Amino acid sequence: MATAIETISHPDAMRRFSKQQRRADRTVAFVPTMGALHEGHASLIRRAAERADCVVTSIFVNPTQFGPNEDFEQYPRTLAADLDVAAAAGCDVVFTPDTKTMYPDGVHCSVHVKGAIVEKFDGASRPGHFNGVATIVAKLFNIVQPDIAVFGLKDFQQTRVVSALVRDLDFDVELDLAPTSREANGLARSSRNAYLTDEGRARAALIYKTLQQAARAAAAGEGNRGRLEQLMAEVLSADTGIRPDYAQAARAHDLSTADEYAAGEEIVFLLAAHLDNVRLIDNITARIGA
Ligand code: PAF
Repeated sequence: MATAIETISHPDAMRRFSKQQRRADRTVAFVPTMGALHEGHASLIRRAAERADCVVTSIFVNPTQFGPNEDFEQYPRTLAADLDVAAAAGCDVVFTPDTKTMYPDGVHCSVHVKGAIVEKFDGASRPGHFNGVATIVAKLFNIVQPDIAVFGLKDFQQTRVVSALVRDLDFDVELDLAPTSREANGLARSSRNAYLTDEGRARAALIYKTLQQAARAAAAGEGNRGRLEQLMAEVLSADTGIRPDYAQAARAHDLSTADEYAAGEEIVFLLAAHLDNVRLIDNITARIGA
């Protein structure tokens, strides 16, 4: 049986709703998603519900953040089940625009992201991806007009991009970055996990184990980037079916890199790998020990 939760599909109606909330002195927390909602999204919605009077979740598979050979067409679209997950987690309204209303006349104006935050990692592997993300997030912020927006740290590079977007373009939105939700074996929850076989899910646990080993080495005082990255490559090589795209260490605040990280610096280990033709990403942060 379908859940009774309010859905709004047109940006004008969504904006009207948010204005009404504001006039009634009610705060709005926003959780942007591309749907295929799972426990990770539910935890973001629950967190949003603790922070504001009203929670809006958007479901929009944004074409402009997918490359030409990526999985835009195959991306899971599960709206009925998503509405149940959103309602159970405490969402009040689900915004479900379609491509025609979001990009009625193609894209003539977009956000261009540059600098260290997009030069490496997914920024290098997926050219144009973060311009697409920043543009859609800017549009969604303008439509939903939230007080708070909740993003998961699983997409670590995305959180740097969205933080830069808010700072550089002066969005009046407070960002709340939530810890990564994980399966019992450590696999980071992701809509793309739906593509994995049961065996693949079990094997993917090696990704988080790799990150944990690197974080332990850093906490124990290893600050040499080459050695930390070599350690990750060695741990990952235990499963030759896991094909790393990158496994690297950068400064957490701006994703810049150095050959040697100093004691006390906060480092993020970022990893992307292919398994069963599925591209998985994960990360962990650690401070270099003295
Ligand atoms: O993280 C996601 O699901 C997407 O990148 C986002 C932020 C909803 C933009 O399409």
